[in-house]
Amino acid sequence: MSRVESLLRSMTIEEKIGQLNLVTAGQTVTGPVVHVETTAEIRAGRVGGVFNLWGREAMAAAQKLAAEGTRLGVPLFFGLDILHGHRTIFPIPLAEAGAFDPLLWERTARVAAIEAAHEGVSLTFAPMLDVARDPRWGRIAEGPGEDPLVAVKMAEAKIRGFQDRALEAPTSIAATAKHFCAYGAATAGRDYAAVDVSERALHEIYLPPFRAAVEAGCAAIMPGFNSLAGVPMTAHARLLREYLRRDLGFDGVIISDYTAIAELIEHGVAGDLTDAAALALRAGVDMDMMSMAYVRRLPEALARGLVDLADVDAAARRVLLLKERLGLFDDPYRSIAAGEYSRAAHRELARDAARRSITLLSNDDILPLSADVRRIAVIGPLADARAEMLGPWYSAGAAEDCVTILEGLRFALPNCEVVFHAGAGIEDDDASGIAPACDMAAGADVIVLCLGEAEKMSGEAASRAMIGLPGRQRELAERILATGVPVVALLSSGRPLAVSWLVERARAVLATWFLGDMAGHAIADVLTGRYNPSARLAVTWPREVGQIPIFYASRSTGRPWNADNRYTSRYLDLPVEPLFPFGHGLSYSHVVLSNLRVAPSDISADGTVEIVIDAQNIGAFETEETIFVFVRDVVASIARPLMELKGWVKIVFSPGESRTVALTLSADSFSFPDENMKPKIEPGQFEILVGLDADRKNLLATVLNITST
Ligand code: GLC
Repeated sequence: MSRVESLLRSMTIEEKIGQLNLVTAGQTVTGPVVHVETTAEIRAGRVGGVFNLWGREAMAAAQKLAAEGTRLGVPLFFGLDILHGHRTIFPIPLAEAGAFDPLLWERTARVAAIEAAHEGVSLTFAPMLDVARDPRWGRIAEGPGEDPLVAVKMAEAKIRGFQDRALEAPTSIAATAKHFCAYGAATAGRDYAAVDVSERALHEIYLPPFRAAVEAGCAAIMPGFNSLAGVPMTAHARLLREYLRRDLGFDGVIISDYTAIAELIEHGVAGDLTDAAALALRAGVDMDMMSMAYVRRLPEALARGLVDLADVDAAARRVLLLKERLGLFDDPYRSIAAGEYSRAAHRELARDAARRSITLLSNDDILPLSADVRRIAVIGPLADARAEMLGPWYSAGAAEDCVTILEGLRFALPNCEVVFHAGAGIEDDDASGIAPACDMAAGADVIVLCLGEAEKMSGEAASRAMIGLPGRQRELAERILATGVPVVALLSSGRPLAVSWLVERARAVLATWFLGDMAGHAIADVLTGRYNPSARLAVTWPREVGQIPIFYASRSTGRPWNADNRYTSRYLDLPVEPLFPFGHGLSYSHVVLSNLRVAPSDISADGTVEIVIDAQNIGAFETEETIFVFVRDVVASIARPLMELKGWVKIVFSPGESRTVALTLSADSFSFPDENMKPKIEPGQFEILVGLDADRKNLLATVLNITST
């Protein structure tokens, strides 16, 4: 008999239920404060895992209570949200997604796992895989952006990075794919709000990253706070038990979100905490994060026949199996993970990741900065804002480890006079600094204007109904622009911002997001031309909040926008196009694409097609280009999106270099969910669209025929 089965047989019902309880140690706060005597609960065998705790001593003290102080000595696991680094902080996921580089995504997760495991962490509540198309939603910062394929690739990469070859490997930590599912479609972009999307949207957009996570061997999954068509995800038996467990064969642990089981009462589907506990357990939720519903009410639910002991056993078994896979029974203190690592090497990776996450949105060739520049005025509230560079969800990161934009520029340009004035606060109403900032800027050769959000303005519980610059920043920017000195604007934010007025007037604008520890050096590398910017937008950038939701993979309409016809789909007061499309991003070079062809031009429903295009870097810089391949099923039994991303390649070109680039697609790239949500390929004509962003007028197109045989 296995160790877990033997252990289960020796456990009392209370001890089994205790394994289903996940409580915070409070070293950081990530949800409503619930008073729990954690130490006493651990001693009583009523805790299966502890989260929001790190550090070898603290972990060892808690583990000692469980592994040595309880009747059976079942060890705890230790969970923590590690979204973009543990000690060394990398760019927020939305920024890093713009690198379109799964190897980079894996490498930063691997480093985070090494650092976290070193301090006793054995599970992370990441990757966050919520496809999001609404920048009002603050959690868009935490995820892969708007595209399901990018989310799929990020899921695979991050899980490989966190879990390494096997969970029992010394520095592996269990990954938790979250938030299952469609949390990013919250009504009006307001966090936690109800979600009402079609079954088709589920299968085309929101489920694919979780299927990929399960196929990648993800150890755990966390349902979202949201309800989906009236059913809270924490009680969604069809999607948890039928889709994840039965259809996908997911055998890992399902962990509720923070107090989400108790929130079934607020959702209006449970009359009290006992009902809530029974609903969640029956739906397939194994662990209760912070509701205390399982430990306090499952005994009553069992007594009343609301749940079966078999449900408790199944949940406890999965938790114990996870601990066994993590090696916690043999090494509860994870001593094997205590090996030293090079923080300097991790910070170099952070610098590279940050450079590769910076999106050059516009540039009239003022960038890279001329070597003749002698006086730079660095203006704005984000210029020397150390803590903001961390972005939301910064785990054990520390503001003092961050290099500010001002520091980065001063370090990179020792022979340049670099002056600084904040000019205004990020969100306060004080405009008294604007005039002195303008006075200081007036004598500069160039102004680097550092604008954006505070890190707390994105992430959880941080939706914004107006996505412009907060506080008096627009007034500062306009007064600075009025000086006539050339302005390079940097936007530090967790979301696209509605700043078309700034793009029209600044000489260059960069989305620098929240880049983590090495923000300042990375930004200086780009502004000085030491690094040629290569990131592309993983999310469409709206002109105004009124365009939201706005995304490239939209379906057509019977009346597509046509300037010559009033009765077409449009706004009276704005163009229908975004400010910048998905995939947008400039570099200091320019790659020209030509001669798109497919071979063969006809394939059968089980064939493959090679897509080939010629590309030349006609610029003077070496450049790393991302070339996207989109597909459109022109006529189908169900209207297909105008374009769907099916692949991309990243190519480094030396100045003047020409390359022939090829990408192979298998026929299943042309399938879509049929009326029963089963993948189906319909013979017919498909457009193949290839280019550098998702703006159709910038793409080369050709046709592929899929024959019925
Ligand atoms: C939060 C978040 C979730 C996180 C959890 C634990 O409420 O929704 O993403 O993993 O609590 O911190």
